[in-house]
Amino acid sequence: MIRIESVTKRYPDGTVAVDRLSLEIPDRSITVLVGPSGCGKTTTLRMINRMIEPSEGTILLDGVDILRQPVNTLRRSMGYVIQNAGLFQHRTILDNIATVPRLLGWGKEKSRARARELMERVGLDGSLAKRYPYQLSGGQQQRVGVARALAADPPVLLMDEPFSAVDPVVRKGLQDELLRIQDELGKTIVFVTHDIDEAVKLGTMVAVMRTGGKLAQFAPPAELLSSPADAFVEDFLGADRGIRRLSFFPSAGLELLTSPVVAVDATAEQIAARDTTDAPYLLVTDLDGKPLGWSEPQDLTAGEIEPDQLLPYGRPFVAATDSLRAALDCAVLSPTGWAVGVDTDGRVAGVVSQQSIGEAIRGAHAEGRADGTAEQAATVTR
Ligand SMILES: Nc1ncnc2c1ncn2[C@@H]1O[C@H](COP(=O)(O)OP(=O)(O)OP(=O)(O)O)[C@@H](O)[C@H]1O
Ligand SMILES: [Mg+2]
Repeated sequence: MIRIESVTKRYPDGTVAVDRLSLEIPDRSITVLVGPSGCGKTTTLRMINRMIEPSEGTILLDGVDILRQPVNTLRRSMGYVIQNAGLFQHRTILDNIATVPRLLGWGKEKSRARARELMERVGLDGSLAKRYPYQLSGGQQQRVGVARALAADPPVLLMDEPFSAVDPVVRKGLQDELLRIQDELGKTIVFVTHDIDEAVKLGTMVAVMRTGGKLAQFAPPAELLSSPADAFVEDFLGADRGIRRLSFFPSAGLELLTSPVVAVDATAEQIAARDTTDAPYLLVTDLDGKPLGWSEPQDLTAGEIEPDQLLPYGRPFVAATDSLRAALDCAVLSPTGWAVGVDTDGRVAGVVSQQSIGEAIRGAHAEGRADGTAEQAATVTR
């Protein structure tokens, strides 16, 4: 465990970058430092691997003061990833990733074999191995940066705004990849960002810092969203924190109706037999059970259902793993106000109305779920 005990960093010009910060960073999970520009995130991160020395206070790694450890040993146990990856421009991708193993005296072949293994792990095609950094996209370079930091298999990863320079789509891919890698490797990750959405998505614990290097709140993301410590944290979380909090509630408890679902080859009797008392629309599926679109029952003629005449069903949610937020989004975007729940193969599991989702949300809030949220959140796709 990394323990930061009442650490202050005062730069020679008198700037207090970090002010009596105390944090317990749990092992094998992602702790995010988030806050506005200049609040001391980078300074904090760099004090952990001694690129910056604290003015006061102590940082302990597994109970030992980091100042008592040889700096090289300490840094070898901590991979470091920065924005724009910071790759060596004159070295190939493979040699960039092999840098630390080479420094540690591994042979060339062994280092390169390790580098190839890591390329695969971070989702980089092996064909890129001989290229130079400038021949890669920003997102690919960032993956190389992560692979390089992982090369010597350090228990700790320090990441300073690693995904800030890429567009939102690539960024989401990198975040998902990091969560997947973390699932497999279980590193102790300290991740700096100024993006609260990224913090909420990635963090097991989130430390919100404010200007002046002070800790505003340290909590799991669901708790941050439900109980911000003060007006600063609330403001920093943004206006739609109620909606965002729904990402932590599973949709699995929603009652999905199958009665308003018909297959495209349904007979007139089957269409007529559908119970539409609760649902004014029928959802038509293809022969494989995948959604095609909505229709009013009277507009459906057996044998003549035209998929392109149907109302779009929008984006379905995965009933087993998606959150209530995903289900609500689906219902809001649906022209009928009904959301389509599918299984992991995309086959319709059932449909649910905005109203039922609203009731589930009220139920979830009413139960307070403060105790259960962290565990539940772990199983919900955010
Ligand atoms: N070498 C230095 N000398 C004096 N002040 C510094 C020095 N390095 C950083 N600072 C100041 O310390 C404060 C914290 O800087 P830091 O880089 O830790 O912020 P940050 O939270 O990482 O910001 P950003 O989100 O912009 O990266 C800032 O006010 C910064 O200007
Ligand atoms: Mg910074």
